[in-house]
Amino acid sequence: AFNLHNRSLLSLVHHSQQDLRYLLDLARDLKRAKYSGTEKQHLRGKNIALIFEKTSTRTRCAFEVAAYDQGANVTYIDPGSSQIGHKESMKDTARVLGRMYDAIEYRGFKQDVVQELTDYAGVPVFNGLTDEYHPTQMLADVLTMREHSDKPLYEISYAYLGDARNNMGNSLLLVGAKLGMDVRIAAPKSLWPSEELVAQCREFAKASGARILLTEDAHEAVKGVDFIHTDVWVSMGEPIEAWGERITALLPYQVNMAMMEASGNPRTKFMHCLPAFHNSETKVGKQIAEKYPQLANGIEVTEDVFESPYNIAFDQAENRMHTIKAVLVSALGGL
Ligand code: CP
Ligand code: NVA
Repeated sequence: AFNLHNRSLLSLVHHSQQDLRYLLDLARDLKRAKYSGTEKQHLRGKNIALIFEKTSTRTRCAFEVAAYDQGANVTYIDPGSSQIGHKESMKDTARVLGRMYDAIEYRGFKQDVVQELTDYAGVPVFNGLTDEYHPTQMLADVLTMREHSDKPLYEISYAYLGDARNNMGNSLLLVGAKLGMDVRIAAPKSLWPSEELVAQCREFAKASGARILLTEDAHEAVKGVDFIHTDVWVSMGEPIEAWGERITALLPYQVNMAMMEASGNPRTKFMHCLPAFHNSETKVGKQIAEKYPQLANGIEVTEDVFESPYNIAFDQAENRMHTIKAVLVSALGGL
C-alpha cells in the first residue's frame, strides 16, 4: 500500500510526484474536515520537537496548531535556549531528541545540518527552512495555486521573480519540475539557482512534462502566467550589507502594478511566502526607505499590489497549517 509512514521531508528532491500529490490531497481533506467539524485526531500521544535556529511566525505556528488539532504535543526550542551548536553537536542532539520525540522539525542554515539530524535521530525530520530549501512552504504554495485555479496542476503556470538562488527560488523550481508545471524563473543570471540544481530539475522535467524557463527578462517570464511569486531580496542569515547590491540587481524584478499588468492575464494572482517588505512600516523596511526613497512603497512588492485583490498570500499562509498537518499525519498517523 502507498503511504508516507515515517518519511522525512528534507528538500522534495527525493519525493515523487505521487508522494507530493498524496500530501496535497491529504491537506485538502484535512482542511475540509477542520471546517466541517469532522476532523479526527490521528496524533494523540505523539511528541514533536520544533527546533528553530532562525526566527519564524508562520512555520512555528503552523506546526503548533497542526499538532494540537491532531492531539500531539510540541516542544518549541528557540535559537537561544538549547545547547545546539555551542555546547553540543548536531549528531549528539539528534541522538538525544530521537530518544524522546516521535518527529523533529528543524529550521536552520545549511542543508547538511538537517541531513545530519536526520541521519542520527532515527525519527522523521521535517525541514522548516534552510538556506537551500523550504519544502513545507512548497506544499502550501501548490495547494493555494490549486485552490485558485480550475486547471489541472500540469497546466498551471507560474513565474518567480527576484532572488532565485535562495530557498524559495530553488524550491519553486524544484516543485514545479516534479509536478509537471510551467515554471518561469526571472532574475539576473548571478541570482539564478545553481547549475547543478537546474540540471537536476531539467531531468525531473523530462519525466514530468514540466516546462522550465530561466530568463533575465521579467516581462518574458510573466507573460500569460496564472501566478506571480516573489520573496524578500535578502534572506535570513545573509549580511545586511547584501541589500545595496541586491536592490540594484533586482529593481527590474519588483512586482508592481506594471508587472502584474505585463502578464496580460487579468486572472493572474500574486503570491509571497511572507514576511514581505511592501511598505516602510517594519524596521528593515524603514531603514531601506531612508536610504532608497523610491522603495518607501515596497521593496520586492509594492503596497498597491500587496493590498489589491491580486494578493492571495494570506490564503497561502493559512495553507501552511493544513499542509504541515498533512505532513505530520502522513508520517506519524496510525502508527
Ligand atoms: N513563510 C515562512 O516560512 O514564514 P516564517 O518565517 O514566519 O515561518
Ligand atoms: N527567503 C526567505 C524566506 C522566509 C520564509 C528567508 O530565508 O529569509
